[in-house]
Order: sequence, then C-alpha cells, then structure tokens
Amino acid sequence: MSGGDPLSGGGPLSAQIELREVSKSFDTRGGGRLALDSVSFAVKPGETATVIGPTGCGKTTILNMVAGFTHPTAGRVLVDGREVTEPGPDRGFMFQRPTLLPWITVFDNVAFPCRYGHGLGRERSHAELEEAVMHYLDSVGLRDARDLHPHQMSGGMQSRAALARLLIAESSVLLMDEPFAALDAQTRLSMQQLLKHVVKSEGRRTVLFITHDVEEALLISDHVYLMSASPGRIIRHVEVPFGSREDYRDVVLRPEFTQLKHELIDQLERLVPR
Ligand SMILES: Nc1ncnc2c1ncn2[C@@H]1O[C@H](COP(=O)(O)OP(=O)(O)OP(=O)(O)O)[C@@H](O)[C@H]1O
Ligand SMILES: [Mg+2]
Repeated sequence: MSGGDPLSGGGPLSAQIELREVSKSFDTRGGGRLALDSVSFAVKPGETATVIGPTGCGKTTILNMVAGFTHPTAGRVLVDGREVTEPGPDRGFMFQRPTLLPWITVFDNVAFPCRYGHGLGRERSHAELEEAVMHYLDSVGLRDARDLHPHQMSGGMQSRAALARLLIAESSVLLMDEPFAALDAQTRLSMQQLLKHVVKSEGRRTVLFITHDVEEALLISDHVYLMSASPGRIIRHVEVPFGSREDYRDVVLRPEFTQLKHELIDQLERLVPR
C-alpha cells in the first residue's frame, strides 16, 4: 500500500459514505467468484472520491452496493452511518449514457425526478419546479435548449441535461459511473469543470466517481483510490494535493500533477492483464 491508509479519507463518525472490509462474490457456473476483496474506504461530506482501476476490477459493483442495487457478501456499506439496504432518494446515480427520455423535452427530462420521484426532495409548486429546472439548466449551460428534444441535442448537451437531472433531485450522495467516458476531450473537460463548480458552489454534495481516466480523477477529486483486479482490491490511496477546488489550468501546469499522473498511469498499465 502506498499513499497511506485507505480509511484516512474519513473517520467512522465523519464519513458520509463508508465501506468496511467489503467483499463481494458472484455465483458462476464454476462456483462462487470473488469480485471484491475486503475493500475499505470512506468519503466525508462535501468530498469527491474517485475509484480507478482496470476493467472488471469491481468499480461498478462498489457503486451498485452504495446505491443499494446489490449487497456485499461480507463487510458493511454505510451511508450517513446507516447500513445500505435498498436504493433511496438520498443517493443519485449517473450512468455512462445520458438515458434521457426521447419523447419529452429537455425541460421535462430535468423535471422528471421531481414529478415522478416518489419521495425525492421536497414537494414543489409548479412555479418552484419551473424555477428549479431553469436554475439547473442554467448551471449546465442549457437555458436556451429547454424546449429541445434529446435527438436535437449533441452528446455533450445530452450529458449536461443528465447532470442537471441528477442535481435537481437534491440527493446528497452522487454516484457517477464513468458519466463522461463517451464524450470528446473538450466536452469532457467542460463537464468535469461543471461538476467541480457545482459541487464547490453548493458545498453539500458528496461524490463517488468512477473513471478509467487518471487525469479526470486527479482533476475532480479530493481522494483517488486505485484498484487491482481479480479480485478487486484497493492498492493505493492518493490524497490529491492540488485540491479539487482549483482551476484545471493551474493544476495541469504543475510538475507534481504531471508526475502523479504518470505514476498512476504506469501503475494502472502494469495491472492490465496482457
Ligand atoms: N451480476 C453479476 N453476476 C456475475 N458476475 C458479475 C455481476 N456483476 C459483476 N460481475 C463480475 O464482477 C466483476 C466486476 O464487475 P464490475 O462491473 O464491477 O467491473 P468494473 O470495474 O466496473 O469494470 P468496467 O471498468 O469494465 O466497467 C467482473 O468480473 C464481472 O464479470
Ligand atoms: Mg463498470
């Protein structure tokens, strides 16, 4: 283990998300297969933690357990100190694809969780909902696109709409599984900045983010956890020294950033089976 104790991302009392020695096996034809082995880490309120690792190491499985879609075989997954037993409106999920409904406008897509979320956030009047949707459309730069349908929007615009839909639900925990992976480099950078800006300005969201992209991880995170595969284990915890709050232009020019990025890329490359 290098870079410190994986639990140092937050103590048991201060953590909003916590995994304690979590293992997960899946039944296969050849018997049980251990996918995750004793994974422990914690994320404090307001922090962004990112998990990186080779394909199949169990990143999505971790998110799914925090979301309550699946459960550990051993160990505990806690959110706000309570064991996760099922999905709930306190945890929002963003997938790799924007998954917008194609037959309704961007406005209605973003309003959707509030209208049909069953217990998501507080009740809003028509005017309050309109104001909230426009606030989040504004914050992702889609104010003028409110009446477009998804097929009239670029992939980047669709991702921004999906981010607005995630944010409007007011979940304090945001679980994001490679949400920007399908975007071109420039749009991706603007989405990273957008996420960072919203998390920073609202100050009340805790983000667990998955990516294959080391630079993305270092640019948006307070903590990065590197996993090995078969079974998935956390082998390195990096407390990101430049802070997720800084402007990326200042960060990418720093020699420490380049060095850490290349170190992690080398480490990741050595983990990928050839
Ligand atoms: N429901 C399931 N049933 C059986 N095996 C599963 C199931 N879900 C995941 N696995 C296995 O668990 C391991 C981890 O899968 P997971 O999807 O979490 O990996 P990942 O790190 O997200 O990979 P990728 O980077 O490709 O998205 C894989 O070997 C996968 O085949
Ligand atoms: Mg995955």
